[in-house]
Amino acid sequence: MEVIISRFNGKKRYTSKFNLALKPDLTVSEVLMLIKNSHDGSLSFRAGCRNGVCGICAVKVNNKSVLGCKTKVKDIVVDDKILIEPLDMFPVIKDLVVDIDNFIENNIDIRSAIVSSSTHKTSQEDMRHLDTVSNCIQCGICFSSCDVLNVNQSFIGPAALLRAYRCVTDKRDGLKNQRLKHYNKENYAWDCTHCENCTTLCPQGINVSEHISSLRKELIEQGLKSKGSSHHLAFLKSINKHGLLNEASYPFFSINFNPLRLKEVLPVGLRMLRKRKSPGIFHKPIKNIEEVRKLFREVKE
Ligand code: SF4
Ligand code: SF4
Ligand code: FES
Repeated sequence: MEVIISRFNGKKRYTSKFNLALKPDLTVSEVLMLIKNSHDGSLSFRAGCRNGVCGICAVKVNNKSVLGCKTKVKDIVVDDKILIEPLDMFPVIKDLVVDIDNFIENNIDIRSAIVSSSTHKTSQEDMRHLDTVSNCIQCGICFSSCDVLNVNQSFIGPAALLRAYRCVTDKRDGLKNQRLKHYNKENYAWDCTHCENCTTLCPQGINVSEHISSLRKELIEQGLKSKGSSHHLAFLKSINKHGLLNEASYPFFSINFNPLRLKEVLPVGLRMLRKRKSPGIFHKPIKNIEEVRKLFREVKE
């Protein structure tokens, strides 16, 4: 098998190739260890618990971000080759070792220490729910695969938002209102585009994007307004009314008909008009609109 490793020596990137006869059950971390011990002692990578617990060994293998210690080579090899690279979105320090400072800073920003409101008694059911959102091992795989972070590095990222949801859903915490105001700001809950990469790749099987949706629900239920929530509510309103997006009225509902925000939507509208691509103003609801409205009612219940 050919193992190709993306390297960085502090100055330039290069690749190293190794042709190895590997036992099929070896993990990616074991292969890296074998190369370091028997072929190239200068190779740098991270390894800790080797048991899927500490989250430190995440790398990209054949274009997929995985935990090295939990991924068997036979499950990821293509055409008898594996390409091992450092995680995307993190600055590389050396070879496969990345700088995780930003990722950690974002998690600190969430202020995840629970400040007890002292009176609430946590039920077993509460604890079971908290367990499912507390299983994050901080591996950074979601952060490295997030479509939004790829274009906007100020976005706080999926793991931090998961942590945020964990805090607001913990009934012992006395800071819920302050927290929600913080998470309602730009680059927090409303900037996720629900690409689902975080959920698909999380090695802990956490449905991260669904928890981000639940965090948004909390923000709306607390009556907190933001550009993101207006956009979201306008979208739902249009679908409930017409069964599809009314592209002519949606932008105006999205900015709450605020004249000061017209400049956000008018230039695009005028360009569409000029190119005769503007959608019709009057939309009839689709034929099966009652089915759509029934879905809305069921979700609400
Ligand atoms: S949410 Fe999942 S993918 Fe993201 S850091 Fe936590 S364990 Fe890793
Ligand atoms: S669902 Fe949201 S937070 Fe998760 S990877 Fe996609 S954009 Fe990022
Ligand atoms: S070494 Fe700890 S999770 Fe892989």
